[in-house]
Amino acid sequence: MSIIAFFSKGSNFDLQNIWEKRLQDYLSSIRLVPLLSNEAQNATIALLWKPPLERVKKLNNLKGLISLGQGVDHILKDNIIDDDIPVIRIVDPFMAKSMSHWVILSILNYIRDTFGYEYQQKNKIYKSRREINFTTLKIAVYGVGAIGSVVANDLTQLGFKVEGWSRTKKNISGINCYTGENKFKVLLKTSDIHVCLLPLTPDTINIFNNSSFKMMKNGSCFINAGRGEQVVEEHLILNCKSGHISSAILDVYREEPLPKNNKLWEQQNIRIWPHVAAETNPETAAKQIANAIKCIENEKIPPNTIDRKVGY
Ligand code: NDP
Ligand code: OXD
Repeated sequence: MSIIAFFSKGSNFDLQNIWEKRLQDYLSSIRLVPLLSNEAQNATIALLWKPPLERVKKLNNLKGLISLGQGVDHILKDNIIDDDIPVIRIVDPFMAKSMSHWVILSILNYIRDTFGYEYQQKNKIYKSRREINFTTLKIAVYGVGAIGSVVANDLTQLGFKVEGWSRTKKNISGINCYTGENKFKVLLKTSDIHVCLLPLTPDTINIFNNSSFKMMKNGSCFINAGRGEQVVEEHLILNCKSGHISSAILDVYREEPLPKNNKLWEQQNIRIWPHVAAETNPETAAKQIANAIKCIENEKIPPNTIDRKVGY
């Protein structure tokens, strides 16, 4: 019997029960116990979303940590967890598609001015508004990994011109992909819509700051579903206030849930989503988590074990 310590911060559902049932479809002899219970001391594996890391560190029998999301920054945070414990992440094509839908929705709302028409309906105004000509637009996707590559491809299929940016060179058919700081600046300067799908690492923290926003074309649209800490929020607000950034659509924040007194709420051209762009789905992700558990128990390296040196 494998004992799995479970923690998922901020959920409205009984996720422990849901995950246990889903995982038992693949593994008959597992039991999920709350990370904060005494029983967790016997756990060999932990299944985690934003856990209290000091508690995780005290589990002496751990052989592996599995992230309940595609990102692992919530586990690597502050270097609390020892380097020799493998950390495994979810890589789920369903989540990539879900993110793709959200990015497409955000971009279409932007170019078709959905919120302007909503205002008009409330005020019974029947007139056309300026439509942005999509044939002249260029979209930059920062981070073309498991999620960003699907987003970039889907946008291309819709007829948008898309360019990608990653740490190592990528070959994606129909999409020019770049690496390095100089090319990052070129993308900032030449794109109209900027989509951040980067993981949070020491290299990507605060990457969207006043200097990067200022490099963007006047009137650019900025979309972030990577991590909140990649954006200096005060700088984004200033650039949205001046209109230099004409619209920002955000799904992630430096502090989550976004505090009620955060100024992002009040900025008219900023759209707030509560970290739901691509939610983990137990139905589609359980099989790979079950496989990771099996691998860990059999002392094998599971697929999607992250590289601790690069941090994602
Ligand atoms: P991947 O690791 O598959 O892809 C990350 C991409 O970012 C890769 O292309 C990688 O380059 C690139 N990258 C990393 N560091 C740098 C850097 N310093 N400079 C340039 N490029 C860099 O991750 P996923 O696609 O699975 O997920 C990305 C992130 O999306 C997650 O870490 C998470 O933060 C966020 N996310 C948000 C969700 C939401 O609902 N808002 C849902 C799921 C994920 P390379 O290809 O060379 O490695
Ligand atoms: C994830 C997320 O990393 O939901 O999967 O942000």
